[in-house]
Amino acid sequence: MENRELIVKNAREYVYDALNNEGSGHDWWHVFRVTNNAIEIAKYEEADIYICELAALLHDIADGKLNESEEAGQKRVYTWLVDNGVSSETLDHVMDIVSKMSFKGGNQKENVSTLEGKIVQDADRLDAMGAIGIARVMCYSGHVGRPIHDPAMKPRENLTLEEYRNGKDTAIMHFYEKLLKLKDTMNTSYATKLAQGRHEFLKVYLDQFYQEWDAKR
Ligand code: ADP
Ligand code: NI
Repeated sequence: MENRELIVKNAREYVYDALNNEGSGHDWWHVFRVTNNAIEIAKYEEADIYICELAALLHDIADGKLNESEEAGQKRVYTWLVDNGVSSETLDHVMDIVSKMSFKGGNQKENVSTLEGKIVQDADRLDAMGAIGIARVMCYSGHVGRPIHDPAMKPRENLTLEEYRNGKDTAIMHFYEKLLKLKDTMNTSYATKLAQGRHEFLKVYLDQFYQEWDAKR
């Protein structure tokens, strides 16, 4: 039987060291919050808390942005799990979650299938909503040199690659491109409930933002 307590402790230390100084929004505190979200949802949904915690801790280690390639990122997680003596069942389940989560948008091959995978995905998406989500958008936009807002820009589905490269995107536009859509992508009922509150907060924030922009409040 694997030593679950020790494996989780080692995973925390490993991920902390790897992401502590990461500047692109995949920092340790993002992982910390996703892990806490995942544990809370797992308790409510009566899922396997150990698998949710371990997969949440490792979910961004495999991210293509932080590695040479998606494959290299996944090999990193795989090697860590083997070196830390997880059972083959845990290995398969965590790899299944991490590999499916790390593929984004058009690259997405398959959606997460198990309850635990759905929970970790919900937890990751919740961290892009609400007060924290707003902080992350502003951080990311500053990181890539984009303005907060441009009133000439109208919400629309997706920027063309050229517009994207030209930096014709704003922090506020990203609310319409991603944040406001997340509410309807939740897998579990508990996360759907949390997402509702965070979604309402996004709308209140936008309303206040536009009022202030127009010097009305
Ligand atoms: P994750 O890997 O955590 O699921 P992403 O890598 O897509 O999420 O994004 C990390 C954070 O940066 C999120 O909070 C997201 O909203 C924000 N972000 C991503 N793309 C943009 C963008 N074009 N403009 C502003 N913020 C963005
Ligand atoms: Ni993440």
